[in-house]
Amino acid sequence: MASVSMTVNGKAVSGEVEGRTLLVEFLREGLELTGTHVGCDTSQCGACVVHVNGESVKACSVLAVAVDGADIRTIEGMAAPDGTLSVLQQAFQDHHGLQCGFCTPGMVMSAADLLQKNADPSEQEVREWLEGNICRCTGYHNIVKAILAAAATLRGEKIAAE
Ligand code: FES
Ligand code: FES
Repeated sequence: MASVSMTVNGKAVSGEVEGRTLLVEFLREGLELTGTHVGCDTSQCGACVVHVNGESVKACSVLAVAVDGADIRTIEGMAAPDGTLSVLQQAFQDHHGLQCGFCTPGMVMSAADLLQKNADPSEQEVREWLEGNICRCTGYHNIVKAILAAAATLRGEKIAAE
């Protein structure tokens, strides 16, 4: 066993993990942050995406010991403390960017990383960015629409929800 300490959604946390414990296991089982989902465990579906030091990372592809000392953000850290959704989360809701919701945490975390790197992505750029995130329900159309709408809102433009 090894001790790990990290900051998760702004709080200092620590725990004992095995060398083989994945970051997603530490988050879900160690910290009970079950908003980060596991859809494949083979780094394909993107349901487990979190931010590690500000970059989107598939949490099933990283060992907990490898991110000792890191700053982690999960979907639980996206809304304001009073529960107000982030612009991106609100856009997913407004534009029907989810159905079952299983992929949504990973989609939101991936999209948030895109928007911090590119404030005005094209539809094509959004679609390419989401290559590592699988959604079995929506056909992606409304997810892309939600991300483009969130980008516009964050740029100060107004887009009407349909
Ligand atoms: S659970 Fe990590 S990519 Fe699918
Ligand atoms: S909303 Fe069901 S998998 Fe995407």
